[in-house]
Amino acid sequence: MSGLIYRLLIGAGQTTLGYKEAFKRCQSGWKVLDVGTGDGFALLRNKDIILEKNLSIVCVEPDAQAAKLLELEIAKEGLENQVKVRVEYLSHASQSEYNCCLCITTLVVFPTTEERRDCVDMCLSHVKPAGKVILHQTLYGGLNNIFLLSRYLTSFTAYYLYRPLYLNDLKSIFSGRLWVMESIHWLAPFMLFTVSK
Ligand SMILES: C[S@@+](CC[C@H](N)C(=O)[O-])C[C@H]1O[C@@H](n2cnc3c(N)ncnc32)[C@H](O)[C@@H]1O
Repeated sequence: MSGLIYRLLIGAGQTTLGYKEAFKRCQSGWKVLDVGTGDGFALLRNKDIILEKNLSIVCVEPDAQAAKLLELEIAKEGLENQVKVRVEYLSHASQSEYNCCLCITTLVVFPTTEERRDCVDMCLSHVKPAGKVILHQTLYGGLNNIFLLSRYLTSFTAYYLYRPLYLNDLKSIFSGRLWVMESIHWLAPFMLFTVSK
C-alpha cells in the first residue's frame, strides 16, 4: 500500500521527471551509475530514452528486496543488456569509470549533512574527469513551508520521515564547488535539479 501511495504521489511524477531530465543531459553511449535505484519504477518509466541514447546503466541498491524487484522489472522490460544491478551501498571508487553518476532523490536517505557531503564525494569519485554528477532533489528554503508540510504528510509512506534537504544543507554541501543549478519544473523551488560541471 505504501508503495502504491509513493508511486502515485512521487514516483510517477517528480521522480520519473527527474530521471528523464537527467537522461536528456547524458550523451549517447554513456556509462551511467545510478545511486539508490529502489525498485526501479521511475527509472524504467524512462525506457525509451535509455534505449534511444544507448545508455549502459549500473544500479547500486543496498536493499535486497528492492533490488530483486528491480531485476524482475528489468527482465520484464527486456533491458538486461542496458541495465545491471549491484546489491551494495554506494562507496568511494578506486577507479573513475563512469561518464555520469545519478543521485535521483537519494540524497535525503543519508541522515546528516556530513553523510550527504560524503555521498556527493562518493558520486564524484565514480565519474571520469569530464563526467557529470546529476542530483535531483526536492529542496526546502525559508518560504515554501507549505510544501514542507505536504512533504511531512507524504513522508509517512514515502520517505519514512527522512530528514528533508534544507537550503542550508545544500549550501554547506556544495560550497566551494562549481555546480550548475537548474530548476526543471513550474513547481520550483519545490523542484530542484543540480548538475556538476
Ligand atoms: C528515496 S529512494 C530513491 C529511489 C529512486 N532513485 C527514485 O528516485 O525513485 C532512495 C534509495 O536509496 C537506497 N539507499 C539507501 N542508502 C543507500 C546507500 N548508502 N547507497 C546507495 N543506495 C542507498 C534506498 O534503499 C532507496 O532505495
